[in-house]
Amino acid sequence: MVEVGDSQTSLEELRAEVEQCRRCALSRDRTNIVFGSGSADALIMFVGEAPGYHEDQQGQPFVGQAGKLLEKLLGRIGLTRDDVYIANVLKCRPPGNRDPLLEEIDECRVYLERQVAIIEPLVICTLGNFSTKLLSGRPDGITRVHGTPQPLPGSGGRISLFPVLHPAAALYTAANLKILEEDFDHLPQLLDGKAVEPLPGAAVDQPQQQPAPETPSEPEQLDLF
Ligand code: URA
Repeated sequence: MVEVGDSQTSLEELRAEVEQCRRCALSRDRTNIVFGSGSADALIMFVGEAPGYHEDQQGQPFVGQAGKLLEKLLGRIGLTRDDVYIANVLKCRPPGNRDPLLEEIDECRVYLERQVAIIEPLVICTLGNFSTKLLSGRPDGITRVHGTPQPLPGSGGRISLFPVLHPAAALYTAANLKILEEDFDHLPQLLDGKAVEPLPGAAVDQPQQQPAPETPSEPEQLDLF
């Protein structure tokens, strides 16, 4: 019997669901869904924008040039892809690598939200504008908010959101690469559980009350969004 609360199993069930997804027109032209990859028990999750050509072909996130840079940045802090979980806002490739449309994000966001609820990472590192705006619920652009951790809304302060530039923005711009490297260098500290203060003006979640479990407890579901 499958253990309730087995994150790997829950992710596989969710992946099977996404494979059947026809919620938006992107499903018509996809070669593969790009669900996400890495450890179901990861302490840190990276969230990019949407699959590109190579990701669509291989069904894996960040396998192109931006992915190579992401791996290098992970290496700086002693991590590999297998230590983390990597996902995107959209699970299917927008044609011609255009930006995701609002309605596509709206249809797809439930899958990312469920991935977060299953994995329950300590830190979500958003890569670029789309994932940062979606998960922070705020309109602030990445150039303003990168490198500053904030509590993930709906997580009761248990998950830190840490926005950084999208690696693609640093591929050919040395100044952006420096910013990205410096921001990455703060990640180990965040993973050590340093407190994260809410941003000015942000809605503050009440920490969730944890009733004492009587019998073996059901897996806890985060009220994330
Ligand atoms: N860029 C993204 O945002 N996601 C990928 O998976 C690849 C490139």
